[in-house]
Amino acid sequence: MKTSQLAPSMMCVDFAEMTDVLRCFEAQGIEYLHVDIMDGEFVSNFTLGTDFCKYLRSHTSIPLDLHLMINRPDNKLSWFGIREGEFVSVHWESTPHIQRTLAMIRDLGGKPMLALNPATPIEVLDYVLDDIDGVLLMTVNPGFAGQKMVPCMPEKIRNTRAYLDSHSREDVRIEVDGNVSFIHAGEMRAAGADIFVGGTSSIFAKGTPIAENIAKLRAAVR
Ligand code: DX5
Ligand code: ZN
Repeated sequence: MKTSQLAPSMMCVDFAEMTDVLRCFEAQGIEYLHVDIMDGEFVSNFTLGTDFCKYLRSHTSIPLDLHLMINRPDNKLSWFGIREGEFVSVHWESTPHIQRTLAMIRDLGGKPMLALNPATPIEVLDYVLDDIDGVLLMTVNPGFAGQKMVPCMPEKIRNTRAYLDSHSREDVRIEVDGNVSFIHAGEMRAAGADIFVGGTSSIFAKGTPIAENIAKLRAAVR
């Protein structure tokens, strides 16, 4: 099993405390910063954007994990200034040209991930297996923090891991996003997930300091 890694969801940070939170993430050895980009069309919400990505890159060396919940990402990838080593997820449902979009991310120096909504079957991976470094499984329908996990998602994680392994892609990462709570995280880990997006149900859970929540999430996915 791959080493587990944490990616806090940056849309959940209290912006007034951004620099303190970044120092805390560095001290805790956080592996990626999960940045949700929403365009009000692919999902019914607007969140972070290109300037925020620039801000993060100039204030920390933790690599970004860009999650593009936008229509036609193929036309917009160049706006993001993708850096070597950053993950970039695009949704299978967001463009008719998904293979080209994944290949573009690789050309720009990023690590391409294919993001799948809860109801999107894993067979859409069939002809893009050479084009991806990871699969981002949405465990809620994308758009908002604070939702409940779709109950059959642990089964989908298990099936995705088995599918990738049976296609000789043991190296492909599985990231999970949405209601990765302290309880669900353990179940997701057992099913084969290895990158965990921490939002309001874990890293930003109210009432406990972020550092304590990180330690608790790490223990759950060890
Ligand atoms: C959207 C986001 C949310 C969220 C995750 O893609 O990444 O899913 O912030 O955290 P929860 O569901 O715990 O609020
Ligand atoms: Zn996300």
